[in-house]
Amino acid sequence: MTIRIADHLPADPDRAMRLALDRTMAEMKGSRILGIAGDVQAMQARGRRICNLTVGDFSPAHFRVPDALTDQVQRAMAEGHTNYPPADGIPELKRAVADMYARDLGLDYGAAGVCVGSGARPPIYAAWRLFTEPGDGSLSFLPSWNVGYYAHFCKTRHEFVRTTADTNFFPTADQVAAALPGKRLMYMNSPLNPTGTAIDEAVLRDIAQALVDENRAREAVGDKPCMWIYDQVYWRLTSGDTRHHNPVRLVPECAPYVIHVDAVSKWLAGTGLRVGWAVLPPYLQARMKGFIGHMGAWAPRPIQQATAWLLDRPELVADYLSGLQAAIDARLRRIHAAVQEMRAEGLPIDAIAPQGAIYLSLHVDMIGRGFDTNEQIRTWLLEEAGVAVVPFQAFDMPEDTGWFRMSVGAVGIEELDEALLRIREALRRRA
Ligand SMILES: Cc1ncc(COP(=O)(O)O)c(C=O)c1O
Repeated sequence: MTIRIADHLPADPDRAMRLALDRTMAEMKGSRILGIAGDVQAMQARGRRICNLTVGDFSPAHFRVPDALTDQVQRAMAEGHTNYPPADGIPELKRAVADMYARDLGLDYGAAGVCVGSGARPPIYAAWRLFTEPGDGSLSFLPSWNVGYYAHFCKTRHEFVRTTADTNFFPTADQVAAALPGKRLMYMNSPLNPTGTAIDEAVLRDIAQALVDENRAREAVGDKPCMWIYDQVYWRLTSGDTRHHNPVRLVPECAPYVIHVDAVSKWLAGTGLRVGWAVLPPYLQARMKGFIGHMGAWAPRPIQQATAWLLDRPELVADYLSGLQAAIDARLRRIHAAVQEMRAEGLPIDAIAPQGAIYLSLHVDMIGRGFDTNEQIRTWLLEEAGVAVVPFQAFDMPEDTGWFRMSVGAVGIEELDEALLRIREALRRRA
């Protein structure tokens, strides 16, 4: 006889869940973006055409991973590469990543400084666990992707430092220097999700120097340093003249403190392939390997095999990247140009020119002009223009500023053009 589990579960599942869970887990917040995606799906189910600019992902209908990568995954499967990989990645991939960092970023860590995981998230979480204890200070900048969740899991005393559009939503070196005392971990991401902006070279250099100064002073009195997660998952996706900058390249003395985080998720459009890595001082790598091993957050072996093969062929990667960048740019520039036209017409809208990643910061300047909150503007855009965007509150920025993230990974150009027309019409009706 089969036991029907539902007959043996409590009548009040919410109460049972609250009683069963650890307090930190019970208090874990759901993703705001997934909530918005639910709204979009509900409207689509009612037959509404929605241009969905909420997903920080690539739709394979528009963006494919390199064909050679697909072929190599199939080959690796056929050859039987299906057993456990080493906990920190297969040696071929670690070496291929190290070679790419030496060749393209000018950073020679060697394979011993690479720790592979199933995407960028496990190395990020591992770094939080490696360097913080409950009650330690941690630091990041607003708006930013997901950091609040990690701070919550690790029970750190987290400080979010707010940034503004004037600095492309990056902190100034003075803000960082003022916030560093008492912190054990700082997280920074460039090109930045959600804004599509990239950090300025001089600012990054000064921030790196501020960290070195802070940590040297701590070392002198035997205090623990502040470590720095530098999340560069979008580093190979920069627009136009924008260049990606790296703190260790600018100030090599910060090398002992920096944990780079990277993945094939974004710049090979392979979010579902689950291959990422940290690049960090080799003496810290072994601990990260241990932690990722215990989580079982290995990247699938056939995909590691294929990724190593591709990274060893930089000309193929460069070729693919130029096509990918052109397709992303076509979309981001389309939005930016249309928004500038609307602005020239006197409509209350603006956007920051694309610099990197797959995002654009959109400013709908209507707070205090018929709208009190970003949420009201978001719902209005969805209902009146059939366009779904994500307010910066989903990136921990509490204020109602009229700023939104637009993500172009899941839309085609035609669909985008129609959506931009609908936005223009909705704004005109409102004016
Ligand atoms: C800045 C940033 N870091 C890390 C990640 C996570 O990457 P992965 O899917 O490889 O875990 C994302 C995903 O959206 C991201 O935007």
